[in-house]
Amino acid sequence: MSSSPSSSSSPPPTSGDSPPSNLPLKKIPGDYGLPFLGPIRDRYDYFYNQGKDKFFQSRIQKYNSTIFRTNMPPGPFIARNPNVIAVLDAVSFPVLFDTTKVQKKNVFEGTFFPSTAFTGGHRVCAYLDPSEPNHAVFKGWFLSLLAARHNKFIPLLQNSLSHLFTNVEAELSKKGKADFNTLSDNASFSYVFRLFCDRDPSDTRIGSDGSNLLSKWLFFQLAPLFTLGLKYLPNFLEDLLLHTFRLPFFPVKSGYKKLYEGFYTSASKILDEAEKLGMKRDEACHNLLYMSGFNSYAGMKVMFPDLIKWMATAGESLHRRLANEIRTVVKSEGGVTYSALAKMSLVKSVVYEALRIDPPVPFQYGHAKTDMVIHSHDAAFEIKKGEMIFGYQPCATKDGRVFENPEEFVGDRFVGDGEKLLKYVYWSNGRETDDPTTENKQCPAKDMVVLLGRVLLVEFFLRYDTLTAEVGTLLLGSSVTITSLSKAESTA
Ligand code: HEM
Repeated sequence: MSSSPSSSSSPPPTSGDSPPSNLPLKKIPGDYGLPFLGPIRDRYDYFYNQGKDKFFQSRIQKYNSTIFRTNMPPGPFIARNPNVIAVLDAVSFPVLFDTTKVQKKNVFEGTFFPSTAFTGGHRVCAYLDPSEPNHAVFKGWFLSLLAARHNKFIPLLQNSLSHLFTNVEAELSKKGKADFNTLSDNASFSYVFRLFCDRDPSDTRIGSDGSNLLSKWLFFQLAPLFTLGLKYLPNFLEDLLLHTFRLPFFPVKSGYKKLYEGFYTSASKILDEAEKLGMKRDEACHNLLYMSGFNSYAGMKVMFPDLIKWMATAGESLHRRLANEIRTVVKSEGGVTYSALAKMSLVKSVVYEALRIDPPVPFQYGHAKTDMVIHSHDAAFEIKKGEMIFGYQPCATKDGRVFENPEEFVGDRFVGDGEKLLKYVYWSNGRETDDPTTENKQCPAKDMVVLLGRVLLVEFFLRYDTLTAEVGTLLLGSSVTITSLSKAESTA
């Protein structure tokens, strides 16, 4: 059942990358199938028959188009309308960043919106469209919190990473391998809490449970988008358990309360500021918890292991070049400073390349605010007001018409002239060359996040020459088990 719009003689304005006027206007290929059955067929293809990447690649080939109609999971009974128009190339994807063209209300998780019970009864910032006044209030507050903490980003992270590497080494010597994910999650939560609350979570009633409590809370919200991949759980049973009905809030309620109280009592200074700016204290605290626990912690939970995975698998020749750049610059600049990091062109490129090849938040959604025409490299397509546009970002950031050898991790891809390609790096829900504002939906911590990636590499190569690791996949991101570390000579 296709509800494709018909071509009109005077198409609405185009959107995307410098719109060419001579592209043929085509009907969007693909269909949604029969009501109820079509979305379930697509859900089984996505999770079980094909898997995510093949799901998109096979449809690109079948329709000979990077723009097509399909259903996105979860579908019935969780999402009322799973019908989307997928945009899967570097040219059409940025329509999702244009908040004059797409409505971003309640689409943070896609075609469904988890119960507000998970967020204290409030629709937090990430669910708000910039046309809603509260979006500017909360996002403006986050931007100012980050600006005020600018000088803490590096020293706090150095401290967290020092504990992290000590723990990795201890586990390696005890067990012969170290589970990087668990240690990194603990370090990430402690970093975020200390950044915003000025104290260690272990000095609050959260204790050492923070990352575990958050991971469970995240799972209960994101379960409709996961497959556990368990050998002994039949697909139909998993589909029924995870993708058919929402998981309730009550199993994670006491954990959320503990986290909320930890933030409420520790962040009194910034909550006072929030009240002065006109926010209600409890709503501000739920927003702070979501921003720390979902936006920041979940982002770091994916990004840090991904970065180590790509760096580890790139091999020793890249490790030597990174170590050399880092040690030379740190020596000449007298430490790990903003100006030192700015001079490390290979480090910067490696972080951008990891974010390009494996964007930590791979899905973006938005409802068309008006009738419009979007275009891929080859054709233009008309979209009607109200239709859901969806992007699977890895397809766009591995677009072979923009990036050479797009499936390959090329550490120095963005060095020198390669910097021109940064406008096609979209991990932050915006171009790497754009900035987050209260009018857009780009991650307010965009610059901080790339800084964290750089500091992680720098601190690693100030201590070690190289590493080996076993990598795999997890519900959120990659699993990394470090199997050996070779200490840098000066620290050995
Ligand atoms: C590795 C870490 C991070 C990653 C990968 C990441 C990624 C993203 C992405 C992709 C979005 C847009 C989501 C969408 O609408 O589709 C986003 C939004 C957001 N991020 Fe980040 N983020 C990270 C860290 C942080 C941190 C440290 C903060 C702390 C301030 C933060 C705060 C936010 C907020 C508040 C939004 C919603 C923006 C809005 O509603 O306009 N993020 N982030």
